[in-house]
Amino acid sequence: MQRPPRTMIGKTLDISRMVCGLWQVADMERAGTTLDPAGAADHLAAYAEAGFDTFDMADHYGSAEIITGQLVKRYSGQPRRPVAFTKWCPEPGPMTRDIVRRGVQERLDRLGVARVDLLQFHWWSFEHPAWLDALHEMKAMQEEGLIGAIGVTNFDTAHLSLALADGIPLATNQVSFSMVDRRAAGELSELCKASGVRLLAYGTLCGGFLSERWLGKPELQHIADWSKSKYKRFIDAGGGWDKFQTLLAASGRIARKHGVSISNVATRWVLDHDSVAAVIIGARLGESEHRDDNLKAFGFALDSDDHAQLAEAFAAMTPIPGDCGDEYRKPPFLTASGDLSHHLGAIPSAYEALPMQHRNGTRVSTGSVWEPIAGYSRAVRVKDTIYVSGTTATHSSSRCVAPGDPGAQAVYILDKIAASLAAAGGRIEDVVRTRIYLRDAANWEPVSRAHGRVFGRILPANTLIEAKLVGAYEVEIEADAVVGTS
Ligand SMILES: NC(=O)c1ccc[n+]([C@@H]2O[C@H](COP(=O)([O-])OP(=O)(O)OC[C@H]3O[C@@H](n4cnc5c(N)ncnc54)[C@H](OP(=O)(O)O)[C@@H]3O)[C@@H](O)[C@H]2O)c1
Repeated sequence: MQRPPRTMIGKTLDISRMVCGLWQVADMERAGTTLDPAGAADHLAAYAEAGFDTFDMADHYGSAEIITGQLVKRYSGQPRRPVAFTKWCPEPGPMTRDIVRRGVQERLDRLGVARVDLLQFHWWSFEHPAWLDALHEMKAMQEEGLIGAIGVTNFDTAHLSLALADGIPLATNQVSFSMVDRRAAGELSELCKASGVRLLAYGTLCGGFLSERWLGKPELQHIADWSKSKYKRFIDAGGGWDKFQTLLAASGRIARKHGVSISNVATRWVLDHDSVAAVIIGARLGESEHRDDNLKAFGFALDSDDHAQLAEAFAAMTPIPGDCGDEYRKPPFLTASGDLSHHLGAIPSAYEALPMQHRNGTRVSTGSVWEPIAGYSRAVRVKDTIYVSGTTATHSSSRCVAPGDPGAQAVYILDKIAASLAAAGGRIEDVVRTRIYLRDAANWEPVSRAHGRVFGRILPANTLIEAKLVGAYEVEIEADAVVGTS
């Protein structure tokens, strides 16, 4: 019997290149009735026996972790067992040792394992810096043997790079990657190539839209399942249904030529990127099962003529804006509900806004012990103007983030500036002036690129100078903003 090929994540995690995705369990359970764990585990067992023995879950995928735990238990005493990836997507806020350990322990308990094979971390807003605390604690837990490999999900290139520069041994980044959403093929894949991080691609079939079932069909008006609701938003952002039909038609011609399905073409196209370790294909347990067809993705190759036809269809589409993961952090939110209401209430401010004592204004405090000692604020708002202090990559009052990496430090600093502006009632779009101080002028490019990532469309006035910086910092940035002018 043919089985999906395998690949290694790090030195020890041997996975199927076609991972079975279990977000669909949450959708099937959304009316409040959970699936029978033993019966659902029987379905997973059929996947595992056919070589689809790697499963992807998350803390919020209904009872998926418990179902997989049942399956894993059946392999007790055997030398090999199915591989279970899960995710921890905590509410934004301080990531103390205790909070992180409780979050990870819950994954261990629900899966009934002594070590999570791959634990993927999601963070809703990089303006809140606690995500680095969470990853460092996960690193400590990895060293204790509680986590096999550490991954992230929906991280953009800048923050993946920052995490690596800050010493987090990341093995994977799970991101949306399909013929409709081709963002991951750009800078993110370049970083993966340079760093060895592997991508786990989801949305490869756009919830099933990338199949013969939708070829030549009118646009759906009412969508029942979460997955299709999400990817219909990607199709709309990608230029709409007509452009999508052009892509389906091109994929259909290629599929017929090779005697495979449109879904196989979509899967093959993603798997052919060197950065991609595996595709994650969602499964509606007990409702539909596409294993035999999906295996055919491994029995053919796309040729130059196929790539030319696809390139023509891509050129007619609108690229999905921004970088991977932006769809969870800024408009247009390309989630099932079109916002974050399925996931979160509000994102708390990272910093505190306080009235100023000697002036009618607001000051922003990070809580640093140095602010009262040295007598300064992270930011000050007087009427509509916000002044953000010279900001370095200082984490939790004292630690220099990403030592020696000016580009990564600039990414961290610009998140701090955005958080300071938000606390004072402003936005990054309100910035009218920035000043960048560089320890070594030779490092201008990565810092300028980080600045451009945030300010590329805002275009504030800017000064870039070499300066002797205090401490081990490579770069310091300050910003002025005028609220309400953007
Ligand atoms: N990290 C994240 O933020 C994130 C976000 C979304 C998803 N994910 C992960 O990715 C997994 C994949 O889910 P997804 O929502 O992205 O959906 P997907 O894999 O793009 O689509 C899955 C759907 O495609 C259809 N399908 C599968 N094989 C097919 C074939 N050969 N021919 C025709 N149709 C086929 C099935 O639809 P029918 O069941 O209707 O037949 C299936 O339910 C999730 O379960 C989850 O593990 C992660």
